[in-house]
Amino acid sequence: MKLFLDTANIEEIREINRWGVLGGVTTNPTLVAKERSDPLQLWKEILAEVAGPVSLETTELDADGMYRQGVELAGLGPNAVVKVPMTPAGLEAGSRLVKDGIRINVTLVFSPAQAILAAEIGAFIVSPFLGRLDDVSADGMDLLRRICEIYQVQGYETNVLAASLRHPMHVVEAAAAGADIATMPYAVFRQLVKHPLTDIGLERFLQDWKGLREELEEGA
Ligand code: G3P
Repeated sequence: MKLFLDTANIEEIREINRWGVLGGVTTNPTLVAKERSDPLQLWKEILAEVAGPVSLETTELDADGMYRQGVELAGLGPNAVVKVPMTPAGLEAGSRLVKDGIRINVTLVFSPAQAILAAEIGAFIVSPFLGRLDDVSADGMDLLRRICEIYQVQGYETNVLAASLRHPMHVVEAAAAGADIATMPYAVFRQLVKHPLTDIGLERFLQDWKGLREELEEGA
């Protein structure tokens, strides 16, 4: 399972990229708006920083406008993936983009039926939003499992991207369910690496090492 950052913050992207585990980035209009800078420059900077796919979201609502915007976004870099919403207009624009050879990410997916539609138009990525389902007392992980099962049975090649993840267990369970990609906020990425026993273990190792060095220095 590839690990993606769900952010438009270039510093967060640079930091996690240095770890050598950053498979790609997903952005959305809310995340871009948070940065309070020119979206075009920001997208270009992110595309240049990341080797893997970077999802850039359309904001036009009608199919023609969304298609035109998608073509422009795809032209920003070879690793650009165009995000379209799971709406009739999104399906229409998405189908046209796919026919042009442009990779699309169908976003705001909340049901298996919607995930089947995304696969049928040849989407590169489908994005079920797990956390937002959990927020309304539905089972986001159950949706992910259903989609993975259907895609396997049907032989769909669309990548399943577990989105709207809120904590490390979401990431672990998404991997167990067979997701191809998990996208998460910076804070969740940092939580993945943390374990109190790692910190305690490291502290003990360093104390023992210091003790040995002091003994050797005293004996010298
Ligand atoms: O970017 C798509 C998705 O991951 C958004 O998540 O946390 O806003 O529900 P969230």
